[in-house]
Amino acid sequence: MTTISCLSPATRCSLLLTVAALVLVVSHGAHAHGGYHAGLSSSFYDNSCPSTRDIVRRVIQDARLADARIPASLIRLHFHDCFANGCDGSLLLDDDVSSGIVSEKKAPGNYKSARGFNVVDNIKSSLEKACPGIVSCADILTLAAEISQAFLLINVQVHMATISCLSPAARCSLLLTIAALVLVLNHGAHANGGYRAGLSSSFYDSSCPSTRDIVRRVIQDARVTDARIPASLIRLHFHDCFANGCDGSLLLDDDVSSGIVSEKKAPGNYKSARGFNVVDNIKRSLEKACPGIVSCADILTLAAEISVELAGGPSWSVPLGRRDGTKTNIESADDLPSPFDPLDILQDKFKNMGLNDIDLVALQGAHTFGRTKCQFTQRNCTARQDEGTLVNLDVVTPDKFDNKYYNNLLRGRAPLSSDQVMMSDPFAATTTAPIVRRFSNNQRDFFRNFATSMIKMGNISPLTGRDGEIRKNCRRVNKKYY
Ligand code: HEM
Repeated sequence: MTTISCLSPATRCSLLLTVAALVLVVSHGAHAHGGYHAGLSSSFYDNSCPSTRDIVRRVIQDARLADARIPASLIRLHFHDCFANGCDGSLLLDDDVSSGIVSEKKAPGNYKSARGFNVVDNIKSSLEKACPGIVSCADILTLAAEISQAFLLINVQVHMATISCLSPAARCSLLLTIAALVLVLNHGAHANGGYRAGLSSSFYDSSCPSTRDIVRRVIQDARVTDARIPASLIRLHFHDCFANGCDGSLLLDDDVSSGIVSEKKAPGNYKSARGFNVVDNIKRSLEKACPGIVSCADILTLAAEISVELAGGPSWSVPLGRRDGTKTNIESADDLPSPFDPLDILQDKFKNMGLNDIDLVALQGAHTFGRTKCQFTQRNCTARQDEGTLVNLDVVTPDKFDNKYYNNLLRGRAPLSSDQVMMSDPFAATTTAPIVRRFSNNQRDFFRNFATSMIKMGNISPLTGRDGEIRKNCRRVNKKYY
């Protein structure tokens, strides 16, 4: 190290860059080959606390508005925690004579230097509200560090324009930071082992950080005039994923010049699927903020999660990074589950998508909100009702996302036969009925399973990497100019 100072600033910079890159590549390689340390998994909280990542992210977002240094401070806390006694959150402990704790915060490397403890406290109290006793302080530091580095990269990008005005030393240190962040980000993308290859809940963190906020705002606005919109949007995601995978194919309109026959004409969608104008509004707002970045397939996936959350249901980290398909699949759209299917056919249709009985019971729980035309119901329409007359799917709490739907099933009060068969079918007693009873007794259990099953459904054959495209308009494939 002493000889480094004799080198010219440019050589010094390039040497440091190489060393940093090597250290990161070596450590990256170690993780990539060996997988995880026994017992650690990136899907660890997927069932027990699916909103973990969103909560940590939200608190850091808020904190950095008032203190831009927070992401850097949080990364350092994780580093100092892991280097003293392993990554066990020991750095966060205060002095406590009664428990024999002498705080690491007093060590020279931390004293009057380590900072961000109040942000960690805020994260912890938000997590304790959402899922008491589940998420460890050590994991909070680890996740906060990963989320913080994505925020830092955005800052670096913002400041790139000013790089040429910096002194050689400052430029060197900035370049080092960029190199480190790119490698760490890369590593982070690989570390998402719980998700389908190519999908990651931080996919747009750098390229379009306002994605979730924009989708949420448009849905919020839409539901002021149409309370049914959240229900209609989640159904779009379901019908998209069950026909040709979650590729946004449902959104395509007829287009003879591109050979597109719209899935919107299939029996399960025709005069039934709705909310397309809201998807258009979301897409338009996203194209304004970050042109050509967010796919229509991801808009549907994220809109589904936000819709559930807005209606009082659970929230979860949504794996993102799907790309849009360039064709439709009428055959599979024609074969969507029907309200007149018996239980074994519904089970088969779900099994074909990699979804089991728990997924079937949990996902049908989405009928806790929204409407159905009376023509689809068990009782059918009364003499005075037009066949398009709407009936609430949940007769007790029609617009709220809760577990009352399952109590309705226990009382034989589900409007759709395809719901009621999960209790009444001869096969139900040994398959779906016990799960219905479980969810009717325990809303938390239902919410946890619903989030997990939604992630599974969202993983049906996504297009990733270089497949498909990012449509400019969700109703049309992009025109190719050769
Ligand atoms: C098991 C297979 C399913 C069948 C047979 C089925 C059938 C139906 C039918 C017939 C309607 C009424 C449509 C209309 O009147 O136009 C409906 C509405 C709805 N479905 Fe399903 N569904 C199933 C699964 C699902 C799943 C997995 C989800 C979401 C995860 C879902 C979410 C909804 C919602 C929220 C509505 C209300 C939509 C609105 O008000 O616009 N359904 N479903």
